[in-house]
Amino acid sequence: MEIDVFTLFPESFEWFEQQRHVRNALAAGSQLQYVNFRDHTPLSAGQVDDTPFGGGAGMLLRVDVVESALHARYGIDPVQLRERRRVIALSPAGRLLDDALADELATEPALTLLCGRYEGFDERILEHFASDQVSVGRYVLSGGELAAMVVCDAVLRKLPGALGDASSSAEESFSAALGGDPEYPHYTRPAEHRGWRVPDVLLSGHHERIGQWRREQSRQRARRAANASDE
Ligand code: ADE
Repeated sequence: MEIDVFTLFPESFEWFEQQRHVRNALAAGSQLQYVNFRDHTPLSAGQVDDTPFGGGAGMLLRVDVVESALHARYGIDPVQLRERRRVIALSPAGRLLDDALADELATEPALTLLCGRYEGFDERILEHFASDQVSVGRYVLSGGELAAMVVCDAVLRKLPGALGDASSSAEESFSAALGGDPEYPHYTRPAEHRGWRVPDVLLSGHHERIGQWRREQSRQRARRAANASDE
């Protein structure tokens, strides 16, 4: 997969790129590249953002700057670009990222991620250049960079070779294998610590019973999480 991240802060991805599963995904042929909006502003003062018409706090990323950066990268009108590849604007109001969306994005050959800053984007960017708007949660981050890393992380770990053990992403929380429920509890040695024992079934070697126990634990966790969010 080829991912292009458009941002004012490409250096903020340095830590992310050093993570093992990201390095694995890149070694296996995926590409992660960055375009700095600031390198493509058509404005002589190097400006990339501006104050909102009608007043209000904060600054918005300008539509002409985003157009120029997309055009420079892909050589076509960004209005057409979104018909050829997913152009995802990170926005708190977007579609909530979940495992199904991560799966869907992981099947794409290429993604473009647009990171907003300050108050976000001029609405025309979302309306005319983005194919999708994605949110990583109903809270506001100071920019789209952390959200873009979350999307890249959730998607890249789905690609073959990103995780050491291929089965580890198949049966993890919210996967189809678990019926969309959270993952069951895990334990490792010691089997007992301060009197806290690992459930006997996990030490039994009885794979069918272990499977049933895990499935039931996942369901219980899902019920508990649903109850907690209703409170
Ligand atoms: N930009 C700012 N907050 C965000 C969020 N919660 N999700 C995606 N992008 C964002």
